[in-house]
Amino acid sequence: MSDDKERTVELHYEGGVLKLPVFTGTEGESTIELKTLLGSTGMTTLDPGFGNTASCSSKITYIDGAAGILRYRGYPIEDLAVHSTFLETAYLVIYGELPEPGRLKEFSDKLRDNADIPAEMGAFIDAMPRNGHPMALMAGAVNTLAAYYEDSADPEDEDQVELATIRLMAKLPTIAARIYRNSIGETPIDPDDSLDYVDNFIRMTFGDKAPSGELGDLFNKAVGMLLVLHADHELNCSTATVRVVGSAKADIFASVASGINALSGPSHGGANQAVLEMLEEIRDSGISIEDFLEKVKAREMRLMGFGHRVYKNFDPRSKEIKVLASQILDQHDSPDELFALALKLEAAALQDSYFTERKLYPNVDFYTGVIYRTMGFPTNMFTVLFALGRLPGWIAHYREQLHDPAFRIARPRQHYVGSNERRYPGQG
Ligand code: ACO
Repeated sequence: MSDDKERTVELHYEGGVLKLPVFTGTEGESTIELKTLLGSTGMTTLDPGFGNTASCSSKITYIDGAAGILRYRGYPIEDLAVHSTFLETAYLVIYGELPEPGRLKEFSDKLRDNADIPAEMGAFIDAMPRNGHPMALMAGAVNTLAAYYEDSADPEDEDQVELATIRLMAKLPTIAARIYRNSIGETPIDPDDSLDYVDNFIRMTFGDKAPSGELGDLFNKAVGMLLVLHADHELNCSTATVRVVGSAKADIFASVASGINALSGPSHGGANQAVLEMLEEIRDSGISIEDFLEKVKAREMRLMGFGHRVYKNFDPRSKEIKVLASQILDQHDSPDELFALALKLEAAALQDSYFTERKLYPNVDFYTGVIYRTMGFPTNMFTVLFALGRLPGWIAHYREQLHDPAFRIARPRQHYVGSNERRYPGQG
């Protein structure tokens, strides 16, 4: 942010004129600073869903929704998706630069060394309801990390925050895989420090049933790419949640657990599950695509996987995912019926003025679920995979906030429209 105090806008109100500074971001975006508004005018702003409100300055991710641009630390998502690995991208998102090979190895080794979870924690996860939604179980498990690792729960201590970063990155796949194994009644599999991050997660999840050979390589590539594509997305609902909780100086484990809870909602991370359920419903009910879209247009339902608060053009991640989906499905003997249905649904929606006029395009979730399903992940694990991908972003935002000189506890105002003062019955 360049602090361009010479640029101002004037707010004319009943009591006078207030000059407000305008900041220019590195991509030329203008942001009006409202810090003095309440004190000078007695007025607040009303911005439901924070659609026009920047709550912080950030150097992590740049999005231009109209142009379909997404960059982590300046690097276009298209390059990272194809040329980077999840660990390299995670390092970039968290620490700000692509790692030298030695640094990447060091990072990877630390994650291997910390992938185990304490036996008591394993028992705690095993005692949770086995058919509960894995996002609820994962949030619960992550919340308890602060209790198991009190030596890395102090946000004021940089070394502790760094140690917690490694622990979170290292243990989340182990936690996720254990929850999955429990849900299918199989014995949990311990991490294997001879495997890379993604392979280890796939093995802890599927065990001997994990595909090998060419298909195994494609699986690894696909999971890795999907994690890269989800690694950060600036101030989305879950990341904003992590920041809000962290702003109270809650530890990073509690903050990330809150992010997982926010992500579980069907308007956010739960959308990839909702897309699959929608496709299955269309298939099972036998409704035509045209009739289904009529129901959407009549507001009886939403077309899940379409639309985005920020992208008013193709979500750049959805393009990469569509290519990946075709590659994976090509490897299978029989074409996937839900993928075929998704292709038809997308084509029909993109020709319909209801969607084009509202700039509703496929988002990252439209094809993600189809890919995960083909890999053998059950529908309720899709959002868990999203959380594994988003973890570096949550961590990076939590850490960035700790060093922000403008850091304050998050405390929005409200526009009160309730009752005026009234007397309690019998009190005059
Ligand atoms: N299907 C049908 N109509 C839609 C959809 C949709 N998926 N999304 C938006 N619209 C319509 C709205 O009804 C509204 O129409 P109107 O102006 O006639 O009232 C208009 O488009 C604008 O919609 P908003 O709700 O204002 O858009 P908003 O930015 O608040 O919502 C959201 C974004 C929540 C993602 C929405 O598009 C949606 O619900 N999509 C489906 C769920 C989904 O795929 N979520 C994943 C998001 S990506 C992610 O979290 C990784």
